[in-house]
Amino acid sequence: MIYSRVLRQHLFRIGHGDPEAAHERTLATLARLGRHPRLVSLLHRWFGADAPRTVFGVRFPSPVGLAAGMDKDGLALPAWPALGFGFVEVGTVTRQAQPGNPRPRLFRLPASAAIINRMGFNNAGAEALAARLHDLGPLRTPLGISIGKSRATPAAGAVEDYLEAFRVLRHHGDYFAINISSPNTPGLRALQDRAALDALLGALRAEATVRLLVKIAPDLTDHAIADLLDVCAVHAVDGIIATNTTLARDGLAPADAARAEETGGLSGPPLAARALAVVDFVARETGGRLPIIGVGGIATPDDATRMFDAGASLVQLYTGLVYQGPGLVRKINRAALLRR
Ligand code: FNR
Repeated sequence: MIYSRVLRQHLFRIGHGDPEAAHERTLATLARLGRHPRLVSLLHRWFGADAPRTVFGVRFPSPVGLAAGMDKDGLALPAWPALGFGFVEVGTVTRQAQPGNPRPRLFRLPASAAIINRMGFNNAGAEALAARLHDLGPLRTPLGISIGKSRATPAAGAVEDYLEAFRVLRHHGDYFAINISSPNTPGLRALQDRAALDALLGALRAEATVRLLVKIAPDLTDHAIADLLDVCAVHAVDGIIATNTTLARDGLAPADAARAEETGGLSGPPLAARALAVVDFVARETGGRLPIIGVGGIATPDDATRMFDAGASLVQLYTGLVYQGPGLVRKINRAALLRR
């Protein structure tokens, strides 16, 4: 309530309506908040919930997580539990620090409560994240680390690039999300193909026994997803994150038509039906045996419930948090509590 009436208006005006400036301001504020553990605990009591579940051997205090991309470099890690999150996925980080695409690269589509982004993995690099995680020490909630390919690395060097980033970070994550589904790094989604994915997962698996999850695009056909799941089974992948942003432009309000022309991945409610269908398909294909993190367009507790009913063990949010603030996390946490 306070968020949608006051804070959001303020944030949406920052930098003359520049969404990335608002994002940076929010992260800086949260980073400061994270330095006050008592305040974090107090807020956690309001926004969080004790609705624990154990998935792929990790105990999550609540099944609602922060999706990748919001806190790529882990700048505000101690603060996220204050907003009710039961886990955080940092990244996507790459082996090398990189600036990402030129600005503007983040666009609000307010009539649809959606976002289009073409950030292009702007991040400080795997080593900077490892150093930050080392300094922070143990966190209150489980941590996922999303890894992607550096833009400067050609497709032929992709496996080595992921491996090197992974080696730097391997001791820091409760799980690793292999991001092969961002639409904003040229050629990245080709890693979802059978042979390329086989090589990548084989190399990562040979490296260490950690929990590996694969994040997939909503734009794959069912046939391609089935193929991908076969490869994941061969390499004993621990779970699927479904889904990343979409290249489709369905379900947008007419008032957002001009913005819909921007290049990039679309997130928020227009993605919800497709993300849910992918979760449902993955659950069916794997007989419900492979853990799924459901993400894409969750904007109400009912959206989250539908994800759980379709077979997700955990859910994540990004765009819903931008439009509704942590009140949405609280509502979903409450709903998850009731379902236990
Ligand atoms: C993202 N997302 C994303 N995903 C990922 O795996 N690595 C990343 O670096 C990013 N970066 C990113 C930036 C921005 C600005 C947005 C809006 C999204 C995708 C995100 O994690 C999620 O999969 C989608 O946004 C769908 O969920 P929501 O936003 O509809 O809840």
